[in-house]
Amino acid sequence: MTTPDEEFDRFKQFDEFDEIDEIDQIDQNEEFNEIDEQDAPRGEHGENDETGEDEEKKDFGHVPVLLEEVIQFLAIHRNGIYVDATQGLAGHSLEIAKRLGPDGHLIGFDKDPLAQEQAKRRLQAAEVKGDWPRITQHHASFAEIAERCESGSLDGIIADLGVSSLQLDDAARGFSFQVEGPLDMRMNPHSELTAEQVVNRLDEESLADVIYEFGEERRSRRIARAIVRARPIRSTKQLAEIVSAELRSMNSQGKPPRIHPATLTFQGIRIYVNRELEDLKTLIEAATKVLKPGGRLVVISFHSLEDRQVKEAMREGAKQGVYKLLTKKPMIAQIEEIRRNRRARSAKLRAAEKIEVQAVVPGGKPWRQQR
Ligand SMILES: C[S@@+](CC[C@H](N)C(=O)[O-])C[C@H]1O[C@@H](n2cnc3c(N)ncnc32)[C@H](O)[C@@H]1O
Repeated sequence: MTTPDEEFDRFKQFDEFDEIDEIDQIDQNEEFNEIDEQDAPRGEHGENDETGEDEEKKDFGHVPVLLEEVIQFLAIHRNGIYVDATQGLAGHSLEIAKRLGPDGHLIGFDKDPLAQEQAKRRLQAAEVKGDWPRITQHHASFAEIAERCESGSLDGIIADLGVSSLQLDDAARGFSFQVEGPLDMRMNPHSELTAEQVVNRLDEESLADVIYEFGEERRSRRIARAIVRARPIRSTKQLAEIVSAELRSMNSQGKPPRIHPATLTFQGIRIYVNRELEDLKTLIEAATKVLKPGGRLVVISFHSLEDRQVKEAMREGAKQGVYKLLTKKPMIAQIEEIRRNRRARSAKLRAAEKIEVQAVVPGGKPWRQQR
């Protein structure tokens, strides 16, 4: 019988060994096919890329995903107003700011005040005097975009969903199952609900529902029962070990798992704690109001729940004549980017443009409203 620690080591070896195969597979298959259901979730950082460090962590320790594609789809013009809905460490914000002139405006949202502090410093350090946009930051969920931005005012919105490396790499934030930390998982440290409350207070059935609905974990009932039996649970590693032991007991003869056994459970709890899918739904709905005609919405998602929501909302918008789809299939990262940055492995980008209103000139032909 293996101990939980041996289990982690086995998983680590497997993951490292598997990397090139996985990348090749992505290269061969995903580039050419639309994937409705994404691969087994790999977590925000690719298989919870806690196991694999990005090779190219730049100055602020963060490599933005699909950067070139984001810039291309936003089609930034110098005097425009752009929202970075998930500012994180300003990877995307910085490149947007560089393309804006003094009459341009960059508005950043993040639930995490620590990330915003770093983003602010990074943007200040890069400022080009006399040729730099106005920058506003909101410590708020992007679900508040309609309350914080004027209707019909925005030229573009980028949302790069999920957690940042800053959050994942800090054991004290409780996102990682590979290191010992408190069960927290809040992007906004001032919000009320923590992972510890979810794990210790929900009744067994509700807990199973969270793990099933937001983690897409088929074995959610067994896992919830094991968690309830082991309460109180105080740390990330303790939770990961309980889940691993339960799944190991169900699958004692089977092949080593492709992903860490606790990946889906952690994903489910994190999404629930941070209301990630509700916020995303609100953002996509609000985008049709706050974008100008011709304004663009670009969303990068990291698991099938998010991507499905984005795909369906954009397609529905296209059906109703609100959006023109700019990506019929999601864009994925090139193999070179995936080699440099494992987080890019499960990234999917979708973009849409708000359709310009057709106005009719009395006695004349319809004309396209100018931006
Ligand atoms: C993947 S990181 C973004 C990284 C950023 N694009 C960069 O290149 O540095 C996601 C960030 O979005 C924030 N976030 C996630 N959901 C959010 C929401 N609903 N409202 C505001 N911020 C959110 C997280 O706190 C995290 O800092």
